[in-house]
Amino acid sequence: MKIEVFEMERMQSTWENVVEYDLSESGVLPVSLGELVEMGFDLDWALSTPLTYSQGNGTPELREALTKLYPGAGIDDIEVTNGTSEANFMVSLSLLKEADEFALEVPNYMQLWGVPRSLGAKVNKFHLRQDNDWEPDWEEFEQAVNPRTRLVYLSNPNNPTGSVLSRQAMERIVARCEEMEAYLIADEVYLGAEIHRERTPSFWGMSDRVIVTSGLSKAYGIPGVRIGWIVGPPEIVQECWTQHDSLTICPNKLSDAIARIAVEEENREALYSRGRALLQENLKITEDWVSGLGEGFSFRAPEAGAICFMRYPGDYPSVELCERIRDRQSTLIVPGSQLGMEGFLRIWLGARPEYLKEGLRRVQIELA
Ligand SMILES: Cc1ncc(COP(=O)(O)O)c(C=O)c1O
Repeated sequence: MKIEVFEMERMQSTWENVVEYDLSESGVLPVSLGELVEMGFDLDWALSTPLTYSQGNGTPELREALTKLYPGAGIDDIEVTNGTSEANFMVSLSLLKEADEFALEVPNYMQLWGVPRSLGAKVNKFHLRQDNDWEPDWEEFEQAVNPRTRLVYLSNPNNPTGSVLSRQAMERIVARCEEMEAYLIADEVYLGAEIHRERTPSFWGMSDRVIVTSGLSKAYGIPGVRIGWIVGPPEIVQECWTQHDSLTICPNKLSDAIARIAVEEENREALYSRGRALLQENLKITEDWVSGLGEGFSFRAPEAGAICFMRYPGDYPSVELCERIRDRQSTLIVPGSQLGMEGFLRIWLGARPEYLKEGLRRVQIELA
């Protein structure tokens, strides 16, 4: 399998550690190991435990803890992975074959643009529409999810718009997947990063066609440990484990132990609250900033997630605009074209407020 370049990830990994202000990030400000020790992570255990391989599909303790997030799921319905990206990758590898069709919600985290195409599948896009509160374009959706469609992917809350699907929209999507006998990957890595609204409902339990992927990277603020998971029908989860054996064998042992602490209810809620306070402050800063930019700049306030997706006036290509900002201001943001929608810029809301303000000041110089 020859995989195509994932443009956004390549752009980030090339530049994020080079620039002075990285506003291309997308999760809540990461926590430190010290903070996780305060939550109960046993550092002495970590210092003395032999660094063996861990259980391939995740320790039973971690999977047991995760079942509490997904009512009705047992530990055999869960595979722990190295990040949500590995979860998405393994589900695609498990389910797609040449000439299948794959439906992709855009804009989005575009990992599952390249992977299905590299597997020989045809990708059909359906758009979220800004003029309709970022609800799907239902006509496109129905064309994209057809009798040849094997798999559908969406992120909810969505990266990059920060929108959350209504209950009716969720039901309509699931009903269509059932009717067409397609599976749905609901990537819920931003669940828990709600800014002012109530908790995003999970797709879990709506149908046996639903596969949820998620992880610690965004709402929990723990991307560096690389823990994600798949929750789905046991035969699919089993197939993903087979993929896992040949891909990375197992999650990192220390990371599995950290994840067991992070997902405990009390700690999870504390991490979500920490994120919420920061996102509320940063959203206000960003709204004030956008309203000072002048005509043509707009965004619909994200309901959840650590990013905002701003439309800009004119038809200047977003990649060139971001390159100019990077070159002249040493500040990195993401061009809409790398998220499947031209004419927009994605800006990180998860940074420390002072860092965000300085990054925005620099971006504004180039937007003037
Ligand atoms: C929707 C979505 N899914 C998956 C990922 C990758 O997450 P992870 O760090 O858990 O691999 C990202 C990262 O930005 C994302 O936005």
